Amino acid sequence: MNIKWDSGKYTSDFSFVHEYGNSVIELIEAEKGASVLDLGCGNGALTKVLQDKGYCAKGLDASPELLTIARGNYPHIEFIQADAADFSLEEPVDAVFSNAVLHWIDKAWQPRMLACVHRALKPGGEFVFEFGGHGNNRQIHTALAEIFAAHEYPYQMPFYFPTIGEYAALLETAGFQVRYAVLFDRPTALKGEDGLKDWIRLFVKTPFAVLQDEQEKEAILAETEKSLRGGLYQDGIWYADYVRLRMKAVRLK
Ligand code: BEZ
Repeated sequence: MNIKWDSGKYTSDFSFVHEYGNSVIELIEAEKGASVLDLGCGNGALTKVLQDKGYCAKGLDASPELLTIARGNYPHIEFIQADAADFSLEEPVDAVFSNAVLHWIDKAWQPRMLACVHRALKPGGEFVFEFGGHGNNRQIHTALAEIFAAHEYPYQMPFYFPTIGEYAALLETAGFQVRYAVLFDRPTALKGEDGLKDWIRLFVKTPFAVLQDEQEKEAILAETEKSLRGGLYQDGIWYADYVRLRMKAVRLK
C-alpha cells in the first residue's frame, strides 16, 4: 500500500470517503471508553469522530503525507505510521475499525493483515470495516481496460474487491467469527465537471505508471470519460459506481 497521496485533494474534494464512514462506526458495540484502532486512518477525520464518540481512539496509516495532516489537525490523538499488513500494538484494543482501506491490500497480503488485526485485538474484540466489494467501480474499470487495450497497454485491476463469501472465509481462517455482512450499491456523486477524471487521477495510479507521455495519459482520460458519460453522468453530476462490503467480525480467542 505504498501510495503517494495528494493529501490536499484527498481532503478537499473526496471528503465523502470519511463522511460515509460515520455510519460504519455505528456498528461498533464496544462501550464508550473502549480502545479503538482506526486502521488506515488517512487524514484522521474518522479517528477524531471515534474520539468524539467517547472511544479512546488511535490511528494507523502507512502514508506520511496523510499522517502529517492528521497530526496537524488532531495533535491530541496518537497516530502510528505502519503498514496495515505489518504492524503490532503495544497493548491490544477492544475494536479495530477500518473504512475504505482494505481494497488497497493485495489478495495475497490479506491473510497477513488479518493476522495483524487478530493480534491487535483482545479476545472477543470487534473488527468493524467497510471497503470496496465485488463489482465495485465495475463500469469505470471496464472502460479503462478497454481504452488501455485500444492504446496497446495492459490494464491490471489494482484493487481487491471480494464477495461476502470470499471475505468471510478469509476471516474465519484468520480466527474470526463473522457477525454481520452486507454488500450494497452506493453510487457516489463526484465534485465538479472533471469529477470523474479527478477521481481516476487520484485513485487509479498504478496502471497509468507505465505511460510516459502526459498527452497520451490525458487522451486516455478523455476517452474514458466519453465512454462513461452515458452511464455515470446524470443531471450535470458525475457518479462513481461504488459497491460497498460492510462487515463485522469478532476475534474468537
Ligand atoms: C473505494 O472506496 O471503494 C475505492 C476508492 C478508491 C479506489 C478504489 C476503491
